[in-house]
Amino acid sequence: MDFRQQEQEFNRKIDPQKLPYHVAIIMDGNGRWALEKGLPRQEGHRQGVETVRETVRCGSELGLGILTLFAFSTENWQRPAWEVNYLMGLPEKYFKSELPELIRNNVRVNLIGDGARLPAKVRKAIKDGAEATKNNTGMLLNFALNYGSRSEILMAVNNLLDDAAAGKIKGAIDEKVFSGYLYTADMPDPDLLIRTSGEKRISNFLLWQLAYSELWFTNDYWPDFSRIHLMEAVYDYQLRKRRFGKV
Ligand code: FPP
Repeated sequence: MDFRQQEQEFNRKIDPQKLPYHVAIIMDGNGRWALEKGLPRQEGHRQGVETVRETVRCGSELGLGILTLFAFSTENWQRPAWEVNYLMGLPEKYFKSELPELIRNNVRVNLIGDGARLPAKVRKAIKDGAEATKNNTGMLLNFALNYGSRSEILMAVNNLLDDAAAGKIKGAIDEKVFSGYLYTADMPDPDLLIRTSGEKRISNFLLWQLAYSELWFTNDYWPDFSRIHLMEAVYDYQLRKRRFGKV
């Protein structure tokens, strides 16, 4: 079966009534993809951005509610300076070429992560993207940049303590109140988490929010991830029985 036929097949098989509302992706394997082709690592990231374009397009066509992409972790600062610099140039490039299409496709852009530590050009690219798409009502596209789940949880705890000291909190903290202090406040938790490249780790991504998410892994590297992978993951999700701890 060629690519088009596979796509058509999944379009027939996927039940539009049972889509995962929120899909989160750990985009992994850019470096190994490049290495195996004898290319410099940045080629992997460059191709990774092409995959981001296509995945956003496909997610929006499928009708996902939220797509959350792990683009840069709080730990990724430990990479060599040239690689960090290269990665920090990508959001600007991406929005420059994609913003008109994101607007046309009714996609809304949002940042999750500690924006304060990001270079001004990255903050501006995301801010401008968010501003230009703020009235869109289609898929919400979350870029996780300088994101780390433990530091997100600590931020929530510290803000809670401040609000408690200011007398703004009545009674005990429940899950709903706590969730409201996370970057993902007001967003339903991911239904489906995808990780590429054969690694089977959560890597400090959405630790609280992934409590009941279905997990889907592929050995393929992120630059080779295609709409067929996304559709396969969505279809596989639709075959799962989610019990949320019940029988
Ligand atoms: C993991 O591969 C990938 C990253 C740390 C960067 C992910 C970023 C992108 C795919 C582009 C983001 C695009 C925008 C528009 C912000 P790795 O480098 O860890 O690969 P390796 O494990 O094989 O070395």
